[in-house]
Amino acid sequence: MSPFLLTRTLPEDATDAALRADVRAGLTGSPKTLPPKWFYDAHGSELFEEITALPEYYPTRAEREILLARAGEIAAASGARTLVELGSGSSEKTRYLIDALTGLHTYIPVDVSESALTLAGQALVAERPGLDVHALIADFTARLTLPDTPGPRLVAFLGGTIGNLLPAERAAFLASVRALLAPGDALLLGTDLVKDETVLVRAYDDAAGVTAAFNKNVLTVINRELEADFDPAAFDHVALWDTEREWIEMRLRSRTAQSVKIPGLDLAVDFAAGEELRTEVSAKFRQEGVRGELSAAGLDLARWWTDGEGRFALSLSIAR
Ligand code: SAH
Ligand code: AVI
Repeated sequence: MSPFLLTRTLPEDATDAALRADVRAGLTGSPKTLPPKWFYDAHGSELFEEITALPEYYPTRAEREILLARAGEIAAASGARTLVELGSGSSEKTRYLIDALTGLHTYIPVDVSESALTLAGQALVAERPGLDVHALIADFTARLTLPDTPGPRLVAFLGGTIGNLLPAERAAFLASVRALLAPGDALLLGTDLVKDETVLVRAYDDAAGVTAAFNKNVLTVINRELEADFDPAAFDHVALWDTEREWIEMRLRSRTAQSVKIPGLDLAVDFAAGEELRTEVSAKFRQEGVRGELSAAGLDLARWWTDGEGRFALSLSIAR
């Protein structure tokens, strides 16, 4: 079997320090916020996989449809020997690309979720003899150092995860992706598109309550890691569409006035009845906006594909 390497780019105490800093800053600020990367412990990663199969959650199916139809074109245009995937999760849709990239030497999945990387990496080396899989446990918003592998390089950022970054974070992120590429290398980017509000809100507030459980999982992570006493049942899941900023916001709304203790930070956090904590934004895009953001980072939009219903787009852009 070909090798599966798993490398932690940040020591565990640095991850711990990042969680502490984010929770302190986010829960002492006004309004209260938390960054979405803390959803993804092993349970959060499982809940995300459940979300991808929900009838209301169309992005995964739409992106899979595009990848299935276009993997050959993407492979021919990029000729990649190294495929880097940021926020790779289960790497499930990536298999279409891996199959199409006939000269592929190394696949580098990058994720904060060690459990997702291990499950996906072990399955891939068993399924694809001859492919090197070098997984990196890393924060894709931090500066990444990639292993030295043969070019051309294709960076894939699928699922619409770019929408979970705020606009300023997106600009910094795209510039850092550009820095990973040589001129002529490519970025394959998945972006969910602006559409009817009802469809969007339903995708983030499903009838079975899986997204609500995913949202509340961040409280369980803080309870475990920082010995906090959040009661997830004391919060309601909220998903709303911000028409101006064209993003979905997930929030947790405190059902009552309550004080939560976080001994790991030597902190108590007061919530008023009805007070909301923002846990995620999920921005939706239009083609011209994507083209502009890519261009500002030194990436030229070369191809733009959507699914049959025009819900989701995959774009291929080339580094100048
Ligand atoms: N690309 C997959 C998974 C999307 S879910 C798909 O399209 O289905 C988002 C993934 O990004 C999760 O696996 C999560 O662990 C990872 N993630 C979120 N924030 C991250 C960050 N800052 N750095 C690295 N990975 C991150
Ligand atoms: C990972 N990311 C693209 C998902 C999204 O749709 O923004 C995360 C998610 N949040 C709620 N449901 C899914």
